[in-house]
Amino acid sequence: MPAKYILAFESSCDDTSVAILDTDYNIIVNLISSQPEHLEFGGILPELASRLHLKNIVTLTQSALQSSKLNLQDISAIAVSINPGLVGSLIVGLAFAKGISWSLSLPLITVNHLLSHIFANFIEHKEITPPFLALVVSGGHTELVHFDTLTTFNVVGKTLDDAAGESFDKAAKLLGLGFPGGPVIDELAKSGNPAFIQFPRALPQKNNFNFSYSGLKTAIRTWLIKQNPETLTKNLPDIAASVQQAIIEPLVNKTVLYAKQHKIPYILLAGGVAANSALRRQLTVSAAKYGIKVFYPSLALCMDNAAMVAAAAIPKFQAGHFAPLSVNVSSLKGIRQV
Ligand code: KG4
Ligand code: ZN
Repeated sequence: MPAKYILAFESSCDDTSVAILDTDYNIIVNLISSQPEHLEFGGILPELASRLHLKNIVTLTQSALQSSKLNLQDISAIAVSINPGLVGSLIVGLAFAKGISWSLSLPLITVNHLLSHIFANFIEHKEITPPFLALVVSGGHTELVHFDTLTTFNVVGKTLDDAAGESFDKAAKLLGLGFPGGPVIDELAKSGNPAFIQFPRALPQKNNFNFSYSGLKTAIRTWLIKQNPETLTKNLPDIAASVQQAIIEPLVNKTVLYAKQHKIPYILLAGGVAANSALRRQLTVSAAKYGIKVFYPSLALCMDNAAMVAAAAIPKFQAGHFAPLSVNVSSLKGIRQV
């Protein structure tokens, strides 16, 4: 049977990405154009992000087609993320995807951004089969999701306030380490002592699979106020390691406990925080004690990219679940079928 190709677009935040995958989860091309223009503002400016997506998406698509050596006529479906995310940014990707879908009479497949982070795992680990437990940890979300099949799932735990990535970013800001905070804290923590300060771990009860990080943020701020500047500079790696441990320990403990209680053989780590080296290591070691295998995407596929959007579209393509051209974006938070 000739290969079928999915052309996918990702524009939910500050990365414009265009990818082509075949329906066996092989990447033909995956191009990402990030937006360093936001750096000077210490966060992402939504209006600027939309305008930059608009500026980048056409040339990125032309480059993707060129390097894939495919034509638009070789494509079988168009996939695009439509929620959650910055509404203006999502609209750019969806409008472009709709235009191509309509002009070539190709099916349009809409995808939830968090679901696509999870499906990034299938690109490099084709052996994964349901049931599996996914831990989605990104800048805006922390969710524990139990999958019975590739398309049916239940959210069994989530954060009651800040997300794990947001906690890394807020802690880094308090420590004067810039944005985004996760990669800097990860790097500093490698030479630090995670037991240097015992920051609080929220919701430790064994039957509670929710997360909470607002208390940690207050605890870090309160601790920092009492320190003199020299202590902070001298012990920065230890402070970073202690903050990181307080963020990841509940993630590891709750995820492994749920998988163990429900006899789930696989855990899939997903989202930007899945790049965290200590989280990858501790989750793998802790799950292995119960014969549970942990998967995570390579670092490049942990960041926002369109290859994962195409991957999440594959089960929908195979089931013929296509979207009408009247479909719209939404900023509704959380993992859901869209
Ligand atoms: O998935 P993502 O792009 O966010 C959303 O879609 O919302 O992930 C971004 C988040 C940021 O909060 C960033 O600090 C965090 O992922 N991050 C990390 C690491 N790399 C990125 N957090 C901890 N350790 C890392 N190595
Ligand atoms: Zn993301």
